[in-house]
Amino acid sequence: SLAGLDLLAEINRLKKERNAVILAHYYQKPEIQDLADFVGDSLELSKKAAATDADVIVFSGVRFMAETAKILAPDKIVVLPDMDAGCSLEDSCPPDKFAAFRAEHPDHIALTYINCSTEVKALSDIIVTSSSAEKILSQIPPEQKIIFGPDRHLGGYLTRKLGRDMLLWPGVCIVHEAFSETELLKLKAQHPTAPVAAHPECPAYILDHADYVGSTSGILEFSKTMPGDTLIVATEPHIIHQMQKAMPEKTFIGAPGADGNCNCNICPYMALNTLEKIYLCLRDLTPRIEMDEELRVQAKKSLDRMLEMAA
Ligand code: 13P
Ligand code: SF4
Repeated sequence: SLAGLDLLAEINRLKKERNAVILAHYYQKPEIQDLADFVGDSLELSKKAAATDADVIVFSGVRFMAETAKILAPDKIVVLPDMDAGCSLEDSCPPDKFAAFRAEHPDHIALTYINCSTEVKALSDIIVTSSSAEKILSQIPPEQKIIFGPDRHLGGYLTRKLGRDMLLWPGVCIVHEAFSETELLKLKAQHPTAPVAAHPECPAYILDHADYVGSTSGILEFSKTMPGDTLIVATEPHIIHQMQKAMPEKTFIGAPGADGNCNCNICPYMALNTLEKIYLCLRDLTPRIEMDEELRVQAKKSLDRMLEMAA
């Protein structure tokens, strides 16, 4: 039993022993964010994984992120605290269906959100994250036809923002899909001067009310320069931990779901990770990300394109 263990001390001891680095996404529980060596958005975490000189990467995020780390750092041991930490966007896009969709549109390239399986990355031409998508898309010649998947809301946002038609895969993030426009408008009425910062995984009817749209890191940056002392945050609410830490005197309110609070917007996959599971995966070096080498090399091509074009 783990009862009585000083988990933080044990994790730090094992981290040194294993020469491990702990990478965490902004959607992790506060105690995990505070313990991590680095907290970031998807692009930053990929870059950290590619550059680390640690022997072990503990990826406190979801499976596609840990797989991305393994694709970019194949010689490292990459562990994920809970192998069931998936993503609804990944689930929406089975590789065989995606391959069939591509085959139906042979004159299109596939620009694909990083929130997908390694197999789908291998079937794609260029990967994007929410922080790099605009920069990457603007480098693709206007006559080039594009399939964008799996997030139709991010795809729709890019289409509107850059005036660029793309064929969209119909996937959604269940977390960002849960925000309620009616409840958001009620909240805005209570805080008429508070800006709204939203993630582009939100549906258009939420983004329409946003003063700022961007990745988790972008939203965090915006919170530091925003006018006033109150911000409405339309993304997974655990990111508020970083804002509250940096600006304890300001007020950060998670955008509500249909029930009027923001608890329904907690990502159930991200929430599977706990301090206990981080301790266990450092101790046992499992669950470990493994993949077929041919598949890895194929998936790395589209990720390398992202890293070049986002640079
Ligand atoms: P970013 O941190 O890249 O904005 O991604 C958000 C997300 O939904 C990750 O699952
Ligand atoms: Fe996937 Fe949405 Fe959870 Fe991110 S927040 S891991 S996109 S389900």
